[in-house]
Amino acid sequence: MKLWGGRFEGGISEKMDRFNASLPFDINLLEYDIEGSLAHVKMLGREAIISEAEAEKISLGLKELKKELLEELEQDKLDLTQAEDIHSLVEMRLTEKIGAVAGKLHTGRSRNDQVALDMRLYLRDQTNDIKALIKDFMQVLLDLAAEHKATVMPGYTHLQRAQALTFGHHLLAYYFKLKRDYERFEDAEKRINVSPLGSGALAGSSFKLDRDFTAEELGFAKACENSLDGVSDRDFVLEFLAVASNLMLHLSRLSEEIILWNAAEFSFIELADQYTTGSSIMPQKKNPDLAELVRGKSGRVIGSLNQLMITIKGLPLAYNKDLQEDKEGLFDSVATVKLILELYPEMLKTMQVNKEKMKKAAETGFLNATELADYLAAEGIPFRKAHQIVGKAVLYAAEKEKELDQLKLEEWQSLFAGIIEVDHKKLKEILAVEAAVNSHATKGGPAFKETERVIAEERKFFSN
Ligand code: ARG
Repeated sequence: MKLWGGRFEGGISEKMDRFNASLPFDINLLEYDIEGSLAHVKMLGREAIISEAEAEKISLGLKELKKELLEELEQDKLDLTQAEDIHSLVEMRLTEKIGAVAGKLHTGRSRNDQVALDMRLYLRDQTNDIKALIKDFMQVLLDLAAEHKATVMPGYTHLQRAQALTFGHHLLAYYFKLKRDYERFEDAEKRINVSPLGSGALAGSSFKLDRDFTAEELGFAKACENSLDGVSDRDFVLEFLAVASNLMLHLSRLSEEIILWNAAEFSFIELADQYTTGSSIMPQKKNPDLAELVRGKSGRVIGSLNQLMITIKGLPLAYNKDLQEDKEGLFDSVATVKLILELYPEMLKTMQVNKEKMKKAAETGFLNATELADYLAAEGIPFRKAHQIVGKAVLYAAEKEKELDQLKLEEWQSLFAGIIEVDHKKLKEILAVEAAVNSHATKGGPAFKETERVIAEERKFFSN
């Protein structure tokens, strides 16, 4: 059955039929399509566009049908070649169920406003699910940060050891990246949560459709103000994909670090068996596949965003069949993001953190050189000059294969000759790695106390 047979004499070619069909993927919209139809038919009855009895009959039929279709779907009994798309399937099956009165459901409606509606209902739900998952993820990061607020590790720039900080501080950086993603999803919701229903094919309707009623019935904040925009707008999908891409970029960067930290060369962490895989040839291998796949799959989500931008860029208003291409990439991205958000925190919770290795790494490689320069500057030596003096000290220590805190009093005396009187005890204090971290007590810095303050502040995010 086609929803548009009247004007046609010949049937559609079988290959064209398959090419044209979207049911194999827009079946994802099943519940939303029926939810939208229920609101529409209720309004048709209230406005006496159809009789109350007809509306009631259609409404009951839709509710039963929903149960049946979901069951068939779950039991893998639903034939996805029996209709062109989800809208056709529902109408076809409703007709089989309640007879010709089913044909009144589509009064004053087009598949163009219907599909735009379905997509918005779907994305509103998904955005809520994803927000909840991000929040759980953030909670795990916050707990881990609290556990490791004093776990000293090297911080890097250019992937070269730069200054000491803590693992807790490092994890908090990701916590805040995810918090912004959460907020971006929350913001995107405002644009998603607008009803296009009643826009018709493109020019509204001659029926007195109460668009505000259906919008409210479906929990939307409002109905869109322009029917042509209502059916042609896919910004809300693009925005969702852009926000999802940004989230994936964050998780990809975290994954890159997890992969590095888990490598023998770093050995900062060890991932649990559950979240690693082996090699078919090298028996010793334990590979960080989860993190690698997240890094890899970020490309897929970004790809879907690009694909849809390219699909939309040259489209005249209003509906064009190209818009059917807004679905597969989106559905794939939603499934990918949700699965990753479920798995990732588990991987983090079960990893072992090698505090000793981290600390050792922070104690070697002159991460305290800036501390020393700051000390000299605080003693009144211009920072530029202090920088140069410490540079020379680092060169000297490197040649002797020593760290700065291993230099003897005489060595300091000759390095600082004519510059400053050497206070060896003070120098040792400054150069100790934990003291260095704790001296960085600026707002948002890695000092243990400051990390503690930030964590306590962020706990509030979860209590409301
Ligand atoms: N399957 C179509 C889509 O996903 C539904 C809308 C069809 N509208 C039309 N005028 N052919 O976009």
